Amino acid sequence: MAHRPYIVGNWKMNGSRTMLAEARAIDRAALRYPDVQIALAPPFPFVGLLREAVNAIGIGGQDCHTAAKGAHTGDVSAAMLADIGADFVILGHSERRRDHHESDSLIRAKADAALAAGLGIIVCVGETLHERDAGQAEAVVSAQVDGSLPLGDAALEAAQAYKLAVAYEPVWAIGTGRVAAVEDVVAMHAAVRERLTAAYGDAGAKVRILYGGSVNAENAAGLLAAQGVGGALVGGASLTADAFLPIVAAAGQGEG
Ligand code: PGA
Repeated sequence: MAHRPYIVGNWKMNGSRTMLAEARAIDRAALRYPDVQIALAPPFPFVGLLREAVNAIGIGGQDCHTAAKGAHTGDVSAAMLADIGADFVILGHSERRRDHHESDSLIRAKADAALAAGLGIIVCVGETLHERDAGQAEAVVSAQVDGSLPLGDAALEAAQAYKLAVAYEPVWAIGTGRVAAVEDVVAMHAAVRERLTAAYGDAGAKVRILYGGSVNAENAAGLLAAQGVGGALVGGASLTADAFLPIVAAAGQGEG
């Protein structure tokens, strides 16, 4: 049985008190789409504020440290996110892999910490244009799934509880307006599913695979209806209710 489609807005390093109004508008509209799981991931300073501003949608962070606390100036732990009411955390986004040199093994350690804190996780994977042009896209993404997803009992439990998600985000499609072809998305999601089944057995079927990369009101319906696409991780088009809600509506009509 397919779970509800999962539509997640990644605000990246965008947000302000004024933008709470957008989150409230998304939250109010969410009541019209009970068949869609909706969430927003704002920058850390706004996680608690958004949590208090909304009721119907999930709120998450965009990263966490591997440790629960300690001498790590500037970092935020999964336990802190959980304490402030976050439901999940995005891990291993390509911008963090690039800007902060995050490795698969570091991302896996962060995933373990997040699960220990009771958070759901969305682990991001995706190939660069260079890797795609070299015919290595599936190999690169499969290796990222193998190396950065959590393993062990806590991971299996989280998978069973629909608390694990993978976001396939081709790096060349992020923020570029260039969307992956639907058939390439379908092929990649199938490859990711294979790795999830290898890692989790039957529970691998309960890990939703989201597509991310220039998703917007115009292309959402086609992507979300594609075989194996369990939702979307949306950057630019998640910053206003006007841009985000048509994507939610498209998910509500899709097969999920
Ligand atoms: P984009 O970002 O929708 O702005 O391309 C997606 C993401 O990086 O999660």
